[in-house]
Amino acid sequence: MNHDHSPRGSRPAEHGARAERSVGGWQTAERVARWGLVLVVLSGCTTSEEARPYHPVADVQELMLHVVEPAAQTYWGAVGWIVDFDGELYIHPTSDEEWLAVENAAFMVAESGNLLMMADRALDDEGWMAMSRSLIDVGERALRAAEAMDEQGVFDLGAEMYFVCSNCHAAYSPEILRPNDDRSTEAEPVASSSGGPGEGPR
Ligand code: HEC
Repeated sequence: MNHDHSPRGSRPAEHGARAERSVGGWQTAERVARWGLVLVVLSGCTTSEEARPYHPVADVQELMLHVVEPAAQTYWGAVGWIVDFDGELYIHPTSDEEWLAVENAAFMVAESGNLLMMADRALDDEGWMAMSRSLIDVGERALRAAEAMDEQGVFDLGAEMYFVCSNCHAAYSPEILRPNDDRSTEAEPVASSSGGPGEGPR
């Protein structure tokens, strides 16, 4: 955690100068305000749990598994092609109800970005925040495409959304990037030397 504990805007030099020439009420008011700020900052350090009105229920993994992933799956499953022995089938929402489900999913993805930024979930103040912000942005654009019943837009934004997910996983949870791929944990006979995941330490 990286808190900034310095009350902004009260540099010691200014403080001295101001204290000399100021008298009366506003100075007291300023002092009260400054101490108020200090107290707020301190209470942020010591009793942060009680000071926050919100109460996260899911940890990051649970938020992913129970909110983000199901919503993203709904969005990704809304528009696309299914290829089987009978040929190619184009799927897309065909009723108001189905479009509403796509909108709901986009809302959940977008707002999840905000949930990821909360103090108990954020893993740092920089990259994590930027990537959470990207999730909000792509989720919001995904929502607009759904509202416009823009099938191509939903398809394209699904791809962009996937990119945002993978980006963050690559940075913060690389071990889950290919959960079904056991090549990273099991030795694999590799005949060629064309590079790729088969290579590396045995
Ligand atoms: C801001 C970073 C971030 C973004 C954006 C993000 N994830 Fe994650 N995700 C994580 C982290 C970190 C974990 C590992 C959590 C843990 O195991 O403690 C994770 C774990 C997961 C898991 C659980 C894997 C497992 O088996 O435990 C799934 C599923 C998942 N994310 C799906 C998604 C999807 C889908 C998206 C995009 C719509 C997404 N995530 C966007 C950070 C992110």
